[in-house]
Amino acid sequence: MTATIPSDKDRVIIFDTTLRDGEQCPGATMTFEEKLEVASLLDAMGVDVIEAGFPIASDGDFAAVHEIAKRAKNAVICGLSRAGAKDIDRCAEAIRPAKQGRIHTFLSTSPVHMKYKLQMDAEQVYQLVISAVTRARNHTDNVEWSSEDGTRTEFDFLCKCVEAAIKAGATTINIPDTVGYSVPEEYYDLFKRVRENVPNSDKAVFSVHCHDDLGMAVANSLAGIRGGARQIECTVNGIGERAGNTALEEVVMAMRVRNDKLPFWNKIDTTMLTRASKVVSAATSFPVQYNKAIVGRNAFAHESGIHQDGMLKNAETYEIMRPESVGVKQTSLVMGKHSGRHAFVHKLEEMGYKLGQNQLEDAFVRFKALADRKKEIYDEDIEALVDQEIAQSHDRIKLLSLTVIAGTHGPQRATMKLDVEGQTKIEEAEGNGPVDAVFNCIKALVPHVAKLELYQVHAVTQGTDAQAEVSVRLAHEGRSMTARAADPDTLVASAKAYLSALNKIVMKRERDLPVAEAAAS
Ligand code: KIV
Ligand code: ZN
Repeated sequence: MTATIPSDKDRVIIFDTTLRDGEQCPGATMTFEEKLEVASLLDAMGVDVIEAGFPIASDGDFAAVHEIAKRAKNAVICGLSRAGAKDIDRCAEAIRPAKQGRIHTFLSTSPVHMKYKLQMDAEQVYQLVISAVTRARNHTDNVEWSSEDGTRTEFDFLCKCVEAAIKAGATTINIPDTVGYSVPEEYYDLFKRVRENVPNSDKAVFSVHCHDDLGMAVANSLAGIRGGARQIECTVNGIGERAGNTALEEVVMAMRVRNDKLPFWNKIDTTMLTRASKVVSAATSFPVQYNKAIVGRNAFAHESGIHQDGMLKNAETYEIMRPESVGVKQTSLVMGKHSGRHAFVHKLEEMGYKLGQNQLEDAFVRFKALADRKKEIYDEDIEALVDQEIAQSHDRIKLLSLTVIAGTHGPQRATMKLDVEGQTKIEEAEGNGPVDAVFNCIKALVPHVAKLELYQVHAVTQGTDAQAEVSVRLAHEGRSMTARAADPDTLVASAKAYLSALNKIVMKRERDLPVAEAAAS
């Protein structure tokens, strides 16, 4: 068999928008530090373009894009901007430190968006496309233009705008399926026809950007690639507006596993996909669906006797890809209360964690405490513990102790001690159930107006001594902050998760203020 050398014309650029379109969805807000951690992982994984945020949206977004631009080693760092001059200039400023930066400017082109959202006619939109791309191009020679709601845009007008954007200097043309309405044949056809009809189409790379409202984002993206696009915009775990965006891990593995039908390649190190999924899930506190393709907990689990029998004879009977190819290691039970620091560090390295000295010390103390309470420590337990350690390392409010009296004779009562920015505070509160009592304690100790939107409990591993993992979502000033925490005691996990969400609110506000002041001065 002769090995085929991958050709440049079949290379697909992976454009990750986890930190922009992904972060934009309700509850997925990340802190500054979390964004840096996600970006560094995407960069190491081989993502070609990282859309790091929407710089005009807030000073916090600007600061994150700017810092990611400074730190990125390989990836192009991209910022999103609307078509206005202020947006574009702010975006250019944010990406300035990047070795390679991109301005991504967008404008709606569909009749319904032009009429109701923009309240502009087609000629005004057309002129704005030209002025936006021209302005962006004066800042950088790497400019992407998107026709928002492209799949519901009248074909001739779409071609006219695409041609004008390329003429004004756009090097990438993105035609998004903003509302997740398209079907694969149609999306394939759209790219094929636009490329055939636009005279200067060979001067730009075409890009797909799909939302999953009808569950077809991945299929549509791959159809667009078959139609001639060579960039896929996607997010880790498929997070994003409404039903989400195209899942990065799914398109990447589809091209890898079915290269016979999808003869395209990309630079992603697929052994990092599982780690990326976990880091994004921990940063956003969005749990990954158990049966999610590629990165779900059950994606490589075989339960039925017939399947297990087949697998033992030959893994290819029921497995189309090896778990190792996406970075899944078999769960092992090697850690326990006799494991020492060396074994713990080794285990963390094996799982892909690199912690600083202080974080490592704290994580080890918590691992020992957990091992005293729990017989068997699974990889998932360690993961929950370390993710929590990373999430809490910058916290302003920390739980020191909690005692709860619960049972059939109410009212339930909680006593809580907190460290609030270095000051120890103690409070007692009653509630309608133990969780309510715990949350009332927090409200008394740290008065706030944020509203509880979601409270969810699940087990990290099996057994009655499993760690409980609690997700809490708080709504504050029009944004939602989700946080997760794990502990063998469900009430302790509930308190930690609530405090973690509050900490995110505090940190977001702090992050926005200094930059706002600096910008004003
Ligand atoms: O879905 C969409 O249309 C977008 C654009 C801003 C590219 O996210
Ligand atoms: Zn989108």
